[in-house]
Amino acid sequence: MIVVEQAGDMQARIGQLKRDGWSVGLVPTMGFFHEGHLSLMRAARENDVVVVSLFVNPAQFGPGEDLAAYPRDLERDLKMAESVGVDIVFHPAPEEMYPEPFLTHVDVERVTAGLCGRSRPGHFRGVTTVVTKLLHIIPADRAYFGQKDAQQLAVIRQMVRDLNMDIEVVACPIIREPDGLAMSSRNAYLGDAERRAATVLHRSLREAERLVESGERRATEIEAAVHTVFKDEPLAQLEYIEVCDNIGMQPIAQLEGTILVAVAAKIGGSRLIDNVLLKVED
Ligand code: PAF
Repeated sequence: MIVVEQAGDMQARIGQLKRDGWSVGLVPTMGFFHEGHLSLMRAARENDVVVVSLFVNPAQFGPGEDLAAYPRDLERDLKMAESVGVDIVFHPAPEEMYPEPFLTHVDVERVTAGLCGRSRPGHFRGVTTVVTKLLHIIPADRAYFGQKDAQQLAVIRQMVRDLNMDIEVVACPIIREPDGLAMSSRNAYLGDAERRAATVLHRSLREAERLVESGERRATEIEAAVHTVFKDEPLAQLEYIEVCDNIGMQPIAQLEGTILVAVAAKIGGSRLIDNVLLKVED
């Protein structure tokens, strides 16, 4: 496994691999790996070459968010990446990605407006800008994203379609702890009591799923049930519960087809998200 820090060096290497006929899979990450990241890297093994980008992207953190505190452990990450057969890690410095003056951004409309976009203005602009840059630096055949960040996935799919980007976006399932908590680098912030409380996200989604299975089709009832589960968890503050379509991330009133139920909550100082995709059959 090699570690590359310069964008030009990375571009030249991938260009050569592509000319030689190798397929390339890219797993964009912000590091501090857990099983969720490793599952993306394993999925990317369907390509001849697996590239992981490891860059804590300042542009997707708002003022007062956790950029400085975001967990980092490069040595551990490199060992973990190597253990699942990653070939190249792209680990640029912030100045390499955002040389001064940096004046160009990518903005996806509407899909970014609700859910996390409402409380994190500018977040998705930071994500789409860095992912566009990464896909230019590493023009892979496929890029792998986790379903846990369902809105991010929808935004990236929209961007790829709108801008005719020559990449296949591959969505990978949420990986959970044995008690149901979705794996996230931000789980590292949780104290013991908070860690126990954090299962409320998954528990509330299971309740939503149970209601849909028992025939409930009104979004208001699903949302009310999620609120009720959260009321019993004093350490958790629900930020949103949304029932929406899985492509445009627009709220829906009556459930039909494939729908997304998504929640975000603050547990102590940590903001966590989770979701479930449901196929509603009549
Ligand atoms: O999901 C993440 O880790 C980040 O948002 C991404 C896609 C690597 C862009 O910085």
